[in-house]
Amino acid sequence: MLLAHAPTELQDRVLAQPLETFTEHTIASADRLRRTLAEVRTQGYVVCRGHIHPEAAGAAVPLRSGDGAVVAAVAVMSPTTTRRSPRSPPCRPPPAASVEPSDLLDHREPAGARCGPAHTLGGSRARERTVRETMLRVAEKRVVAEGVVTLTLAHPDGERLPDWAPGAHVDLLLPGGTRQYSLCGDRWDAHHYRVGVLREPGGRGGSAHVHDELAEGDLVGVGGPRNNFGLVPAGHYLFVAGGIGITPLLPMLRQAEIVGAAWHLLYGGRSRATMGFLDELAGHGDHVEIVPQDERGLLDLGTALADLPADARVYVCGPPPLLDAVESRCAGWAPGRLRTERFVAAEQGAPVRDAAFEVELARSGLRVSVDPRSSVLDAVGAAGVPVLSSCRSGTCGTCETTVLAGRPDHRDSLLDDDERAAGDVMFPCVSRSRDDRLVLDL
Ligand code: FES
Repeated sequence: MLLAHAPTELQDRVLAQPLETFTEHTIASADRLRRTLAEVRTQGYVVCRGHIHPEAAGAAVPLRSGDGAVVAAVAVMSPTTTRRSPRSPPCRPPPAASVEPSDLLDHREPAGARCGPAHTLGGSRARERTVRETMLRVAEKRVVAEGVVTLTLAHPDGERLPDWAPGAHVDLLLPGGTRQYSLCGDRWDAHHYRVGVLREPGGRGGSAHVHDELAEGDLVGVGGPRNNFGLVPAGHYLFVAGGIGITPLLPMLRQAEIVGAAWHLLYGGRSRATMGFLDELAGHGDHVEIVPQDERGLLDLGTALADLPADARVYVCGPPPLLDAVESRCAGWAPGRLRTERFVAAEQGAPVRDAAFEVELARSGLRVSVDPRSSVLDAVGAAGVPVLSSCRSGTCGTCETTVLAGRPDHRDSLLDDDERAAGDVMFPCVSRSRDDRLVLDL
């Protein structure tokens, strides 16, 4: 049993999962297996099928045949630059085992697909993803700080939920509209999602509904999960959180811990009473720096960002002033070293062009004129080609669409500079065209 070569604590966690957690997800089909491995790779880890690589510092996922026997293991390893976790024992030589995807065929439906209707998105990256909407039950509602509650959500029939990775969010379908909330629970818990919700007094009513109306036992519509803020490999991470911005970072620092990366969290808030999850963070010692503004003032970004190792990655989530401050200090950094997640759309200048442009929909050949007062999303929707959307402000990623020709005028808060320059996807809820004509894969 190859899992025996993983660290003991990890073995316990993996084996504590219900059998179907890994059986159905991992080997529902050879295709599914390939996608799983590709997904793990895009999370930035090396996958070693058939044995635990000597450099393995993190997770090992057992692959089981239909009768539940372990037939192989997938080792999820830190990159070579990552330091080994002090808890990880040295790995023994790999046992001889190699299982081809075709050996693992099992034509059952992946468990996640049972969770509700799946909508395929239009873009190239998006085409590999689906957005599922389902009704989940509020299994627990807890006040974790002044103005902050967590909801733990579960399938009403106890079914497992679609997998997710650190940085992912879900949509909550609330009266008055859809809202996005980062998943902040245990990504290895296949049966529960946890989100943290800040009451926003000037908001549109979504957070007030969660705080004042939604109760344990209630059903709530949930879409996703989706991930626009994935954790990429690094030997060192700096996480910076402001207020409720701590939520997407919680699973990231657990992941950094698992792969043995060096990490530090700088967490600011108005006061200790308003800062959630302090009890969970207390066990991380001096990895975590708590900075209540009424005790210590603003976050010392200058010190935190100075002297970071060259391979360090910085992940920031919080209110716009914090994100703006970090971005201005990191101007000129190599692309990708800084990743931010915005709950509120970034300020955008005027569109590149103020005249109408044409969008050609490649799948139907339809040509749609987009006037300066319409979004591409609305214009193509009015022409009878609806695109799945949610936030309509360029922050959630739902409407991601592949660009086949033309240059988009990116106005979202999701793509980094490299992705913008590539110009192969756009978010039509906000983004427009720099050229007379744009061809979209719709
Ligand atoms: S609908 Fe959210 S990014 Fe377009």
